[in-house]
Amino acid sequence: AKPIRLALLGCGTVGTEVVRLLHDQADDLTARIGAPLELVGIAVRRPGRQRGDLPVDPELFTTDALGLIKRDDVDVVIEVVGGIEPARTWLTEALRAGKSVITANKALLAEDGGALHDAAAEGNADLYYEASVAGAIPLLRPLRESLHGDRVTAVTGIVNGTTNFILSSMASTGAGFNEALEEATELGYAEADPTADVEGFDAAAKAAILASLAFHTRVTAADVFREGMTGVTAGDMASAKEMGCTIKLLCIAQRGADSVSVRVHPAMIPLTHPLAGVGDAFNAVFVETEAAGPLMFYGRGAGGRPTASAVLGDIVAAARNKLTGTRAPSESNYAKLAVRPIGES
Ligand code: HSE
Repeated sequence: AKPIRLALLGCGTVGTEVVRLLHDQADDLTARIGAPLELVGIAVRRPGRQRGDLPVDPELFTTDALGLIKRDDVDVVIEVVGGIEPARTWLTEALRAGKSVITANKALLAEDGGALHDAAAEGNADLYYEASVAGAIPLLRPLRESLHGDRVTAVTGIVNGTTNFILSSMASTGAGFNEALEEATELGYAEADPTADVEGFDAAAKAAILASLAFHTRVTAADVFREGMTGVTAGDMASAKEMGCTIKLLCIAQRGADSVSVRVHPAMIPLTHPLAGVGDAFNAVFVETEAAGPLMFYGRGAGGRPTASAVLGDIVAAARNKLTGTRAPSESNYAKLAVRPIGES
């Protein structure tokens, strides 16, 4: 069969692992899809940069992302750059042109996902974003597809690995926030500027995406009540322990009769709760539904290779759907449910 042609935007931590997996698993992927995948271009800022042993023709690198997206022979556009612009311009352009888009861009989806869903509807195109929340954990597909016959009532999760590492280390060693943050930085979990993680912005973006899918509505990051975890002290953790609890930075999304509430803040949870045992930099999301009851999703929520695994899953889905003319689930018909301020019931 004719190859499915891919354009990759970005070749950082996640992008390089996507390239490696595409190369290493080429035969299996071809067998699974029924056609080969062909990477036809990689848009980067610095094409001359040494990319070590990356198994790819250096000729594929370009700085012209829009030119690559507009090529007639590109079927699927994969974005692993992040940030609002120029990603929004690139992806709306691709979707309007009818290309399938795969993105890991939680900031864009949480701030202006509506623009992407609308562009997808205009172009009769498909949007896949499994990698945008909780990295490797298959979580969005269950919410977008498997649970569609059910009614999700609540989503409670640990969706930020950096802060979970810090809080888990405070709980097990009695360390204070600064000491635990230092350890997280040394081990490469925390970024040089940890603000987005410790102040809960990263978790709030993920909470908005999860709540939108769980409750079939449009929730943006601005709708999410957010409190970071920098104020959690060693004393707080010790008191929680005395009460048989621990402290986690949770995202909590709940559905009311005709509204939703979504929040991110540090919370005490009993040591007997399934989320209490989620240590290290792992993520876990607890989903409650009317018919299925409680479900728990657990795994690595960050890192190049785990996140690339989620991107590859989307590539296979996009390629198969292209071949068979099948459409991916669409969120373009979602309207905004009222978002209830915290404290109101
Ligand atoms: N900084 C994020 C985390 C990366 O720590 O979970 C994944 O989105």
